[in-house]
Amino acid sequence: MGTVFVTENVTRSFGGLVAVNNMSIAVEENSFTMLIGPNGCGKTTFLNVCTGLLKPDSGKVWLRGTDITGWESDRVYEQGFVRSFQIPLPFLGLTVLDNVLGAMRNPGESPFRAPFPRAWIREEEENAAKAFAVLRRVGLDKHWDQPSFALGAAQLKMLEVARGLSAGATLIALDEPIGGVDPASAEEILSYVAGLKKEGLTFLVVEHRIDIAAPFADYVYAMNLGSLISEGLPDQVLGDPKVIEVYIGRDEAC
Ligand SMILES: Nc1ncnc2c1ncn2[C@@H]1O[C@H](COP(=O)(O)OP(=O)(O)O)[C@@H](O)[C@H]1O
Ligand SMILES: [Mg+2]
Repeated sequence: MGTVFVTENVTRSFGGLVAVNNMSIAVEENSFTMLIGPNGCGKTTFLNVCTGLLKPDSGKVWLRGTDITGWESDRVYEQGFVRSFQIPLPFLGLTVLDNVLGAMRNPGESPFRAPFPRAWIREEEENAAKAFAVLRRVGLDKHWDQPSFALGAAQLKMLEVARGLSAGATLIALDEPIGGVDPASAEEILSYVAGLKKEGLTFLVVEHRIDIAAPFADYVYAMNLGSLISEGLPDQVLGDPKVIEVYIGRDEAC
């Protein structure tokens, strides 16, 4: 155990708009850490800064004790911190299995591959076995030969997670994984995520359907207007008057 990921006073503006203001968070190893807040409060911008898709104007970002401030997203990704949509979105015409295979690092694609066809075939078989194992972990193994476009919204989200796992992720950032899915599918997605957490993965999840997601969270950060307004255990944060005030009368935010 320990802290895997830390931001320290991260700020990011777009022109005159301060989208993320002095955000400091810590993500514990093997936790489901949730970031909540109303629409437009800076959650996605913050995740983008965390995963290197945007550079902070000021502040620091640490991954497993390494200062990764300003690193390109590819480099962050190679360190095992994967943002769901950062992996190119599933190729909808490809099958579920091919999408997962495509996300795997494939050392066989080196110039040395051609002269050793037997090693190449063995590697393909090993990759397929690994891909099936990943698909089982997210409940998609029975759909392996379907084209991705045939999947439902919840299954597509799990395919994104499967691709993250195949890419060697140990810390996965999800931006509203249950956005746009019905409550039953949302529960299903979250229970798969909880299962992966049991296996040792760590999740940083942005969500604004707090009613459904909060029971799965170990720790919650709440943002409003770019800034942190509350943090703590789910019950503490959801009961915090500052958080209630932001959410009251704003159904779109819940
Ligand atoms: N690339 C951008 N250029 C300018 N403004 C942006 C950009 N991305 C986000 N914003 C603005 O920053 C604020 C925070 O947006 P966002 O991070 O998407 O919030 P959330 O994910 O919480 O809904 C919003 O006011 C949004 O309009
Ligand atoms: Mg967003």
